[in-house]
Amino acid sequence: MKTILRKAIINLKKGELIAFPTETVYGLGADAKNNEAINKIFSIKKRPRINPLICHFYNADKVKKEVIFNKNARILVSKFWPGPLTIILKKRKNSSISNLVTNGLDTLACRVPSNKIALYLLKKFNGVIAAPSANLSSKLTSTHKKHVLKSFGKNVLIIDGGPSKYGLESTVIDLTKKNPIIVRPGAIESERIKKILPNLKTMKLNNKKIISPGQLNKHYSPNIPLRINVKRIKIGEVLLNFGKNNLKSKIKQLNLSYSADLNEAANNLFRYLHILDNKRFKGIAVAPTTNKGIGKAINDRLKRASFNE
Ligand code: TXA
Ligand code: MG
Repeated sequence: MKTILRKAIINLKKGELIAFPTETVYGLGADAKNNEAINKIFSIKKRPRINPLICHFYNADKVKKEVIFNKNARILVSKFWPGPLTIILKKRKNSSISNLVTNGLDTLACRVPSNKIALYLLKKFNGVIAAPSANLSSKLTSTHKKHVLKSFGKNVLIIDGGPSKYGLESTVIDLTKKNPIIVRPGAIESERIKKILPNLKTMKLNNKKIISPGQLNKHYSPNIPLRINVKRIKIGEVLLNFGKNNLKSKIKQLNLSYSADLNEAANNLFRYLHILDNKRFKGIAVAPTTNKGIGKAINDRLKRASFNE
């Protein structure tokens, strides 16, 4: 393990990419202060330039060097960092983060992960790692090393940290507006955040418009069609089930959680979608899943996965 971590640090310093585990999902990381390195992320992922990246820091003090903290930030950070929460704050005028990370925006999405390997890298690299999820743009998220390999082959150094703990991306909150607003539901339930920030708002998923930079509706998509909230399975479809019901596929089915446990479902979501995403099948039919707690993030991912252009 030590050798690959050493290689990863060298890569970061040289402006090369690395894929590394976080507690949410695998990230595709590069030196956030190096324009060329950031360009490589956008091109290998085929990611639209307007979709800004999240920066990963070793601790909150390092974050404060790049962005201006406010009261809500202090409250949230003391409770949820290190961990699966990303906060958007105003960038400092003298910030040394590459402008390509945010496509020239004056805000920056910041997160301090809790995964031990991620923290080790951040400490030894002694810098900031910009990292989107380690998948091709608009495709399924990677929660295992083998998913990253499917996206990028051997072109990127991949650090294997086993299956991701949460299996869903971080919750992203914009703290630059009058009220704090969740721009992407994720691994931390909005109910937990609302308890300490009662004026918390949530951005609605809009079918027509792009609702925030990079919040493209079509996202997290398998290569075959996906339908949600199904009542009946069509011929040729495989089934992604949830809880106990009478749904059945003649071909193949997986159950996110037989006991309708949402944390278990979140954890299985992308792993099972990767398994069911096979050109031999006509499509993936997904059973209704509970839309509360972490279920909101699960439904957000499924809804976007079901969009067709
Ligand atoms: O769990 C995670 O957040 C993972 C791991 C690797 O940390 N990262 C991740 O990054 O999911 P990505 O690039 O796949 O998603 C970042 C999201 C996008 O929806 C993007 O639009 C939003 O964060 N975002 C980033 N910077 C922003 C900004 N300045 N303003 C508004 N939204 C921003
Ligand atoms: Mg992503």
